[in-house]
Amino acid sequence: MNFKVPRGTQDILPAESWKWQRVEAIIREVCDMYRYKEIRTPIFEQTELFQRTVGDTTDIVTKEMYTFKDRGDRSMTLRPEGTAPVVRSYVENKMFGYPDQPVKLYYQGPMFRYERQQAGRYRQFVQFGVEAIGSADPAIDAEVISLAMEMYKRVGLKDVKLVLNSLGDKESRTAHREALVAHFTPKIDELCSDCQSRLAKNPLRILDCKVDREHPLMATAPSLTDYLNEESATYFEQVKRYLGAIGIEYELDPNLVRGLDYYNHTAFEIMSTADGFGAITTLCGGGRYNGVAEEIGGPPSPGVGYAMSIERLLLAMEAEGKSFTEDAQLDVYVVTLEKAAHEKGFALLQQLRNAGIRADMDYLDRKMKGQMKSADRFNAKAVIVIGEDEVNNGVVQVKNMADGTQEKITDATVIDTLLEKLR
Ligand code: HAM
Repeated sequence: MNFKVPRGTQDILPAESWKWQRVEAIIREVCDMYRYKEIRTPIFEQTELFQRTVGDTTDIVTKEMYTFKDRGDRSMTLRPEGTAPVVRSYVENKMFGYPDQPVKLYYQGPMFRYERQQAGRYRQFVQFGVEAIGSADPAIDAEVISLAMEMYKRVGLKDVKLVLNSLGDKESRTAHREALVAHFTPKIDELCSDCQSRLAKNPLRILDCKVDREHPLMATAPSLTDYLNEESATYFEQVKRYLGAIGIEYELDPNLVRGLDYYNHTAFEIMSTADGFGAITTLCGGGRYNGVAEEIGGPPSPGVGYAMSIERLLLAMEAEGKSFTEDAQLDVYVVTLEKAAHEKGFALLQQLRNAGIRADMDYLDRKMKGQMKSADRFNAKAVIVIGEDEVNNGVVQVKNMADGTQEKITDATVIDTLLEKLR
């Protein structure tokens, strides 16, 4: 029987994993600069957590969750996103009592959605996300957006644009909801069955429908922007002012509704505009979610955040022809030419590593030529050659791979000499 990686998932092989590590290092640097601290939550949570927060009429909850009963007959779900778990942890661990609010958190790890596989869309993908919980200052919305933009800047992406909208507060959305119901009700039969049930439960979701996207009713649907009450409109203006103050450009898109129910006020996405980036152009999505903490039993704790998948970030880099420079894999490769030399080489290898020198050797009893080829492939800075003569005379040959020079060095001084050369 042949086993394959499950559909929609991928192995990240060594030829790629080093790039992931670079991205992860950038994530840590940027978050540190903005004082966001890492939080790690479980891979699975109670199903109800996502139903209540992401929303039980969203595609994520109705069609895409990996939900299972555990042996205690509890319904559990592999996390499809990170915001609900983080807010759950904020409430459960009483982070609202921390002296420094907002609590600024970041996370990075696998998320699971049963989606149709295509370029940039996976069933298991890695999200990096941030959440700032405990402040309703519009400056934090701008900070979070700037943190996202900084990530793309640091990996060298240029073809990105920020798209912004306001979903308003509860009152604004109720007014908009009524307008949507009035707009869609007379012709609801023309829309898909999902939209028909959305009409009663959550008409805003109709605007997010993948099936009826091109239906003429969509283009003429009432826009939320026209229903923002004064408080919401003022809040949105302030977010835009703060973005302006730090030189972040944006496009307004009144149709940006996001695929999760918990948003209010600010909603944003960052898209790739690179030629050759696939059909899915969203690199990152986020917004404000005041009210989620109360929804799951906590005190009022306004929050804002975003998430981006590392897969899409790497795809965007590829589309723009940007790459990281790969470091040499090794400092020293030890070439040994017969049995006694292999033993001496093996002992030396350990001494090299103990001294902090990245080193490796041959374990296939290959000829000199094969071993030298490996040293080349690993981009080793130096090669140590040990044969019968070297064993008998207490020396090794050290070859500098950059200029091809070779010298004989005594066993006693080899580590110090190499440390000096590699410095
Ligand atoms: P989301 O828009 O569902 O928002 O996902 C955010 C990002 O995750 C997307 O922009 C994309 O980069 C990535 N993503 C989503 N689904 C997939 C997939 N199937 N394959 C690859 N990448 C994917 C959220 O998840 C919110 N929790 C974001 C947030 C945080 N809002 C506030 N705080």
